[in-house]
Amino acid sequence: MRSSLRPIALALFVVLGVIALAVFSGPAGAEGRRTPSRAGATAQHALDLVDEGRQTFRYDTFGDEVFWGDTLKLHQAIEGAALGGVGPGVSPKAALAVGLKVDVDALPHSLQSDLQHGRVNLDDPATTLALLKLNAVVGVTGFFQDGTPNRLRSVGLQCAVCHSTVDDSFTAGIGHRRDGWANRDLNVGAIINLSPDLSAVDALLGVPDATARTVLTSWGPGKFDAELFLDGKAFRPDGKSAATLIPPAFGLAGVNLHTWTGWGSVPHWNAFVANLEMHGVGRFWDPRLNDATQFPIAAANGFGNVNPTLDPKDDRITPRLPGLQAYQLSIPAPSPPAGSFDAAAAARGDEIFSGKARCSSCHVEPSWTEAGWNLHTPAEIGIDDFQANRAPDHRYRTAPLGGLWTHTKGGFYHDGRFPTLPDVVDHYDGFMSLGLTPQERSDLVEYLKSLPSEEAD
Ligand code: HEC
Ligand code: HEC
Repeated sequence: MRSSLRPIALALFVVLGVIALAVFSGPAGAEGRRTPSRAGATAQHALDLVDEGRQTFRYDTFGDEVFWGDTLKLHQAIEGAALGGVGPGVSPKAALAVGLKVDVDALPHSLQSDLQHGRVNLDDPATTLALLKLNAVVGVTGFFQDGTPNRLRSVGLQCAVCHSTVDDSFTAGIGHRRDGWANRDLNVGAIINLSPDLSAVDALLGVPDATARTVLTSWGPGKFDAELFLDGKAFRPDGKSAATLIPPAFGLAGVNLHTWTGWGSVPHWNAFVANLEMHGVGRFWDPRLNDATQFPIAAANGFGNVNPTLDPKDDRITPRLPGLQAYQLSIPAPSPPAGSFDAAAAARGDEIFSGKARCSSCHVEPSWTEAGWNLHTPAEIGIDDFQANRAPDHRYRTAPLGGLWTHTKGGFYHDGRFPTLPDVVDHYDGFMSLGLTPQERSDLVEYLKSLPSEEAD
């Protein structure tokens, strides 16, 4: 190449190079490169958030041991007098009998094999302490004394105590965790009643100790009364307990309002329950609770504005809300086991659900609640207004129907008034004058048993 052409060739080379760069990394190219990494970062963030939320849901007490241990002294009741606490103590058998569950994955293999061969004393509270030390009691954390590692200092509770079960793979009450499942075996009232010192509860409710204990005994398995500590109403006008069933914490993505009576969104209710029911350390704001007529106890105790001056560094709840929300919205409603329903009948029931029975006017697939403000007056569903009137909107929330098969124990509707799904369908048939034939009613029940199922949808 002649030397005089060299600069031109060089210039051409540079220009071609620039064009090539522009073509391969121009707007489209740049986007092509950036999109996966940005999407990747978002996906990674979502995974991290869900992992963190799972951890919180299973193991975080939010500092509530200050209440369950220090104030109610439940840890002393667990230990029993023989181990330095009070009373008979809580053996593993007693713990399982009040519906507590044991996470088999937290047990070392040697202990699993000892259990299998009957070499573990399930009547001894010392065994319960050993399980607590292994972090194996679902939803309950024991805090041990520094100097004396076999003595409890306190005890705290987690979301998982009410909203998880186990699959009983090892034996009844012992198995792999099932996060989000409603623990309908759990007798929350009986557990709180173990407390040797309920004076804080008595004072809040303004009742003698014996009355508080009678109320706790009235709840029974699978129930809790989240509104008792707001309005002090322990019994319905018909004399039955005012407690409601523990609902599942799965299948909630796309559902606007939560709880039986639609108190708010997932992060609202999580903050509510972690602060006001579990007594963790955080902040909470809901001025609807300042209504002294509807919520005399809440208004008198400032529950509408909890810990307004708390140092953010000491807030154990608010920073946990994003992960908790992501986790709960990520847990799918579990599909029913094969053979647990009649698929052909369920397919016919699907047609009836959205056709003659008009169920899908409220229960809209695939969340089985309304997109929007998913609340109804008691009159619209043909039941009394007692529980609705204990919530700010005086209504019932259209219950999501995925995974009904996991919580047949305790019945259906907020208080379990309909013992079985056929009873629920009979209620609607009568109240809405649907005129369903016996065949149509049973097809509808098979459909409800099938949710969420690919085939029947
Ligand atoms: C002592 C038992 C108990 C504990 C502990 C508990 N819950 Fe609940 N949870 C309930 C009951 C009972 C309800 C129904 C309340 C109502 O409708 O009045 C409920 C309702 C819910 C709902 C609404 C579900 C739906 O169908 O919309 C969610 C979500 C939830 N809890 C999540 C949590 C989380 C997260 C925690 C821990 C921060 C927690 N719960 C701790 C008993 C409990
Ligand atoms: C007007 C709206 C509306 C219609 C129509 C309706 N539901 Fe419901 N459904 C609700 C509400 C609200 C609840 C919650 C009741 C409560 O909290 O006690 C509910 C609860 C349920 C439950 C209990 C869920 C649980 O977890 O306990 C089932 C099952 C159910 N409905 C099935 C049906 C079927 C089947 C039909 C049609 C025959 C139907 N619903 C029609 C609003 C409706």
